[in-house]
Amino acid sequence: MQTFADISALREQISKYKQDGKTIGFVPTMGNLHEGHLALVKKAQELADAVVVSIFVNPLQFDRSDDLNNYPRTVDDDLAKLTERGVDLVFTPTPEIMYPNGMDQQTFVEVPGISSMLEGASRPGHFRGVSTVVTKLLNIVKPDLACFGEKDYQQLALVRQMVADLAIDTDIIGVPTVRELDGLAMSSRNSLLTLDERQRAPVLARTMRWMSSAIRGGRNDFESIIEDASDQLRAADLQTDQIHICDAVTLKPATEETKHIVILMAAFLGHVRLIDNLVIELSTDKDATETSAQEEQPESDTNS
Ligand code: PAF
Repeated sequence: MQTFADISALREQISKYKQDGKTIGFVPTMGNLHEGHLALVKKAQELADAVVVSIFVNPLQFDRSDDLNNYPRTVDDDLAKLTERGVDLVFTPTPEIMYPNGMDQQTFVEVPGISSMLEGASRPGHFRGVSTVVTKLLNIVKPDLACFGEKDYQQLALVRQMVADLAIDTDIIGVPTVRELDGLAMSSRNSLLTLDERQRAPVLARTMRWMSSAIRGGRNDFESIIEDASDQLRAADLQTDQIHICDAVTLKPATEETKHIVILMAAFLGHVRLIDNLVIELSTDKDATETSAQEEQPESDTNS
């Protein structure tokens, strides 16, 4: 495995692969790698001949400086995991390499609508930071495909929209969320939880599944389902940041007619903000409902 901080050295190596006729898979990360990231790597390895992983804690996408400063940084550990998994190239730029003129002078990319709704409403500038860095990384690596986790549901929708709008020649692959045995979605932020918070964290996924059962059971009083869910989180000392029941494609609020639904949740556990989501497919027959594969998984399984 070769590691590069420098853009031109990385590009040179990628060009060699391309000259040899190899396809390139790309996995952008902010490091602190866990099984969720490694599932992205595995998928990229299945679909492409050579895999590039980037590790860059992107300051442009943090709306709170304490969040940026506290974000776990474990590069040596990350590189060991990627070596073990047989990754070909790792890109580890500094903020100065990515934003040589400073972040204020950086040209940015903004996906209209999707950047300011839901998660974007509570984290101003976050999605502009994501779309800008992802565009830049895709321009540097020029991969045939890039893998993103379904856990960041809105981010995946944003990247898909951006790649389509800007005619970026990369296939975007969504990879199912990987969960801990107790149902908690894997996230780098989980390592910031205290022991007690970690024990309470699965209530997020549990509450989401309760919401899903209520909806599949025929309830469409979405506002009161959200209120009940918020009460359940509060009872475990989690502070709701956002709970939405949306159309899974448009991300607009779900209505009685919506069949393809996504529940999006964000809650604070102490200082740590956790997010999760669950997709629900309702049959067109009002009385019969069906769930997505994601929903059918037992708590101990990888979400798919
Ligand atoms: O999902 C992440 O880790 C980040 O948002 C990404 C896509 C690597 C961009 O910094």
